Amino acid sequence: MKNLFSVTHPCPSHEGNPEHGAFNNNHKSGGLCASRLERGGGVCLTNSPFGWCYRATIKIVVLMFLVVAFVTGATAQGVSIEHGWQFAKGDSSQWSSPAYNDLNWKQIDVSKPWEEQGYPQYDGFGWYRLHFVLPSSIKEKAFLKDSIRINLGVVDDNDEVYLNGKLIGKYGGRGGDIKTSQYGPRSYTLAANNPAILWDKENVLAIRIFDTGGDGGLYGNNHNINMLSLMDNVTINTDGDFYFEENEGLSKTIFLSTGSNYVYKGKLTFKVTDPETNTVVREGTNDVLFTAGKPFNYTFTIDKLPKRSYRLTYTFTEEKSHDMMVKNEGTPYVLTPYPSAKPRINGPDVYGARPGNPFLYLIPATGKQPLTYSATGLPDGLKLDSKTGIITGTVAQKGDYAVIFTVHNRLGTKTKKFTIKIGDVIGLTPALGWNSWNAFGLTVNDQKARVAAKTMTDKLSAHGWNYVNLDDGWEAAQRLASGEITPNQKFPDMKGLTDYVHSLGLKMGIYSSPGPRTCGGYLGSWQHEDQDAKTYGDWGIDYLKYDWCSYGEIAPAHPSLDEFKKPYQVMRASLNKIPRDIMFSFCQYGMGDVWKWGAEVGGNSWRSTGDIEDTWQSMSTIGFNQIADGPYAQPGHFNDPDMLVVGKVGWGDNQHNSRLSPDEQYTHISLWSLLSAPLLIGCDMGKLDRFTLNLLTNDEVIAIDQDALGKEARQSLKKENYQVWIKDLEDGGKAVGVFNTSDKYQTITLKTSEDGLKGYTKIRDVWQQKYLIADGNNLTVKVAPHGVVLVKLSK
Ligand code: GLA
Repeated sequence: MKNLFSVTHPCPSHEGNPEHGAFNNNHKSGGLCASRLERGGGVCLTNSPFGWCYRATIKIVVLMFLVVAFVTGATAQGVSIEHGWQFAKGDSSQWSSPAYNDLNWKQIDVSKPWEEQGYPQYDGFGWYRLHFVLPSSIKEKAFLKDSIRINLGVVDDNDEVYLNGKLIGKYGGRGGDIKTSQYGPRSYTLAANNPAILWDKENVLAIRIFDTGGDGGLYGNNHNINMLSLMDNVTINTDGDFYFEENEGLSKTIFLSTGSNYVYKGKLTFKVTDPETNTVVREGTNDVLFTAGKPFNYTFTIDKLPKRSYRLTYTFTEEKSHDMMVKNEGTPYVLTPYPSAKPRINGPDVYGARPGNPFLYLIPATGKQPLTYSATGLPDGLKLDSKTGIITGTVAQKGDYAVIFTVHNRLGTKTKKFTIKIGDVIGLTPALGWNSWNAFGLTVNDQKARVAAKTMTDKLSAHGWNYVNLDDGWEAAQRLASGEITPNQKFPDMKGLTDYVHSLGLKMGIYSSPGPRTCGGYLGSWQHEDQDAKTYGDWGIDYLKYDWCSYGEIAPAHPSLDEFKKPYQVMRASLNKIPRDIMFSFCQYGMGDVWKWGAEVGGNSWRSTGDIEDTWQSMSTIGFNQIADGPYAQPGHFNDPDMLVVGKVGWGDNQHNSRLSPDEQYTHISLWSLLSAPLLIGCDMGKLDRFTLNLLTNDEVIAIDQDALGKEARQSLKKENYQVWIKDLEDGGKAVGVFNTSDKYQTITLKTSEDGLKGYTKIRDVWQQKYLIADGNNLTVKVAPHGVVLVKLSK
């Protein structure tokens, strides 16, 4: 499908219930725990190089400080299948046969998609073949001798795998046939005595791939065949929440679990390290015992910590095999102060709507309830509900209307100047909201969307968050005879859902593709654009994400600029016929330098990259490369470096804590705000933990994203280990992000003379919402690994 940046994905985990039959819950180094258990251990059935589960069959461990990283080393129990592959475009049933003569096939590198190797923009079928010998010595050396696992790196999108002519596994189907189409790591497990395996002889592995669009083929960096080890069936599940104790300490429960009936016995070592000095500040070891259905749980409490992240390391060593599994994570820390009980009006200073269309704006305000709202200067046709702060109506006359909002409670009154611009441009500041994809993938449903909307109202809309966007997976399998699109059974009443969202003062978004099929294989809008736009209008949709996907089958192999624009122009024309303000979000991964023409074609935002994942590599590669597109951001038209990966993400049924460390998450939100990016939360909103909520409710940080000038930050300084990004703000101030891109603590000096910041003497740390003292013209800050200090400078 697409993803130029990374190759990892969590492997599916099957939740067990920790409260049923946990072997042990007795280790506590402080109070509380059992009542707070929320989630069980998972059983990991596949592995990925830096994913959730990876085996370590050796005794020597190389520790990698990735927040949620597992450790492996060279193993004597496997063979590499990285080299020697051959490839052919197209499809033939004969290509699975070991007897087929593939001598004339081209060689291919399985670490890179086929697009990069002479098959530009090729979508459709392709076959990979490899001849290799599987020595039985790997079986002999293995502790467990019963299964092998074939790791194929990333497969994009769907595959069928044949070993010596026998189908041994498949994932997805031809684009659209099966609704699980998804690129991602692929592993298959086979019994070691499966007759398809020819031990000590030549084997032929033949892989049939169907790619629906974007990058295709085999890629990534985990291509090997291994004996299944004991650790392949073990999960160290750290997906529970941290709890913040009254004394500002932290507690948490983690689980060790397995789907295997083998009884795992061994030791769990727990270590707390100060990442600045690399000193271990605490270490302890416990006996552990677990087997299928009976996970081991371990609860710890850490006393008050300074406001920064510590590294936690969990190491499980199995006593018989001495196999080891290691997992790391960082402790969360909150920076955003509690909002005052006095009223405060948040959100942008400006809002655009078109004349004659329904108007909806919720005044975002914090302060002790009840709050009462009033406004002066509202244009004719609008009315404000004084209890909810929701403004509705229709304005006939174009113009800039200077409005003053007032919010009052028994502790005080606050006013804010605001401009309502009735004209042709909407989305004057980047969208703030939620999108279902990074949390739920194709499993989104009505209930999950309602939970997101309710949570937004209860916890986030006071800070300006307002879009509830359904991504792929809402569409029925077939259109009605009239050609009209309908939702599938997961959305029994789309109009009812939209009405509910609107009743909260929030807005509703939807997803489609200009091609016949979406990336998830659902129906796209191809040749039904007018009809779909009308349906969206009838439902009351406010936002459309329009994803290229199978339009690759419609467009020529090498689209010209006009051909890149065409599908977006067609839908733009259809949306223009609808009497609604519908934000138009292009999703085509930056093809044809979309930032140069996205505004002219009527996009409010355009994706400038492939799909994001919750890894440092993915997030930082995307975020720090928003350079060429930067100058094109403007009110109403923004670059979109993809949705947020904070909180519990998962792209499907199972969510996990974002693999970004707490510091990386501060970087993510800071950088996206500097980039004037749409901020679309991609987590399960029903499970917002305190850290994530704190991260998403800093009004001074959000104000940087929502700044009315609509400029994007520029990379002002790039050193090997740090970067400085500066964004011009409407009030003449500058937002500055000092990012530590290394994995060690750094003290960085921001020289105001060098960075064009001369005369800016007031420096405010926006996360902590307090002024900092500069040393002359320099600001010296200590920045955590992969972390940030975000400041606002004014004269
Ligand atoms: C593409 C997009 C994602 C998501 C999926 C849905 O991969 O880039 O953001 O919309 O399609 O299938």
